[in-house]
Amino acid sequence: MTSGAQKTQDLLGIMTAQPVIPVLKIANVADAVPLARALAAGGLPAVEITLRTPAALDAIRAVAVEVPEAVVGAGTILDARQFDAAAAAGSRFIVSPGFTLQLAAAAANSRVPLLPGAITPGEIMAAAEAGYSILKFFPAAEAGGAAFLKALASPFAGIRFCPTGGIGPANAAHYLALDNVVCVGGSWVAPDTLVAAGKWGEITDLAREAAALKRA
Ligand code: 3PG
Repeated sequence: MTSGAQKTQDLLGIMTAQPVIPVLKIANVADAVPLARALAAGGLPAVEITLRTPAALDAIRAVAVEVPEAVVGAGTILDARQFDAAAAAGSRFIVSPGFTLQLAAAAANSRVPLLPGAITPGEIMAAAEAGYSILKFFPAAEAGGAAFLKALASPFAGIRFCPTGGIGPANAAHYLALDNVVCVGGSWVAPDTLVAAGKWGEITDLAREAAALKRA
């Protein structure tokens, strides 16, 4: 079994390799491979495919097999069953908007690292108690944005966040300037209209701009 410390290191490696993790909602499985290739070509190899569409697990499988330059992850994982299905499909990291004991048990039995979500001090403490020091912060803008995250830095010195939700080119830099932010996530690098039109070159351009964003 892969140790918790090793999984944290694996997750940190993925989260620090690029400033922005694309959050993808894939309607047509045929889009997954060209989309992941386009994002990787722009400097964003790690992508989170959310389980919000029936195509998601097939999309993860396709990217895992056909796009070796990508690091495919699964998002919007709400329970242990979804965790196991996403891991079996080839996910290299798994993201949840929250944290539950059931999810923690599934993650403990897997070599795939989990990025669980937490917002409030109590949620952060529960996740930290279970051994998690890198957390998703969702929905970031609505929950208080960069100012809220900044206020968490002093009491939770060992915790770092990947905020997502309402982040885009206009405000990503505010989050990335914080010491307790490892990266941000967002869907803005893969707009539905460009995906539906197969405008992969334009998506690569968006990815290149996002990949050039600087951290603290
Ligand atoms: C997520 O699950 O991380 C968010 O839905 C992404 O939010 P965005 O669409 O506002 O970037």
